[in-house]
Amino acid sequence: MSSPLRSFAYRHRWFYNAITALSGLSVGGVERLRRLGLNSLRSKLPQGAKVLDLCCGAGEAAAAWIDAGYEVTGLDMSPKALELAAKQQPQLHTVEGMAENPPLEAQQFAAIQLSLALHEFNAKERQLVLEACLRLLQPAGWLVLIDLHPAGPWLKLPQDLFCALFETETATEMLQADLPKQLQELGFGSIKQELFAAGALQRITAQSPNKNFAPIPPKN
Ligand SMILES: C[S@@+](CC[C@H](N)C(=O)[O-])C[C@H]1O[C@@H](n2cnc3c(N)ncnc32)[C@H](O)[C@@H]1O
Repeated sequence: MSSPLRSFAYRHRWFYNAITALSGLSVGGVERLRRLGLNSLRSKLPQGAKVLDLCCGAGEAAAAWIDAGYEVTGLDMSPKALELAAKQQPQLHTVEGMAENPPLEAQQFAAIQLSLALHEFNAKERQLVLEACLRLLQPAGWLVLIDLHPAGPWLKLPQDLFCALFETETATEMLQADLPKQLQELGFGSIKQELFAAGALQRITAQSPNKNFAPIPPKN
């Protein structure tokens, strides 16, 4: 179920941005939050590589990649968010679609970023989204996901409050999930999990297989 504050935040961008800025303080500011994906993969990617920002929203987390010279596609299911993204980031290629079955050609991206989005999906959908990432990544391509992680004692209460006010049950469900294990079972390798914000936020990088890899076909 969705709380009234969550709906308000999605309808009023200034409020959404204010909440993101407030959450960003826990990692040293919203600028740093927005660069977490790029900073983890920059040294592994060739200049100008194709990057997908999956569930890009209004493009805030895609901006750092564009500024760094990557060719970025942003996919989201919300036409309103994409309209804003296109306005704010004219260089972003925008695609409207579902992350569980993106309307995009297989094996075309050197990297995929999932920023603050995986918690929007239930367990079955999460599996489909991660399978879609495998399908879209070039062999030995990189996935970076930034999302909630069960907070340590200092931030447990604020995190519980945040989830109750702004998230749905999919977020609390994801907090129980072992994402590195799920990625490993899907075939990803070189999995690295890092924690930020007293454990309340995680960044995971993982690499798709590099040879003899048959892409998972899209779901109908
Ligand atoms: C919390 S926002 C995160 C946006 C952005 N990645 C960021 O870091 O600010 C989650 C985004 O996921 C999108 N979304 C949710 N479910 C989706 C789905 N099934 N397919 C594509 N986009 C989806 C929403 O429209 C929203 O823009």
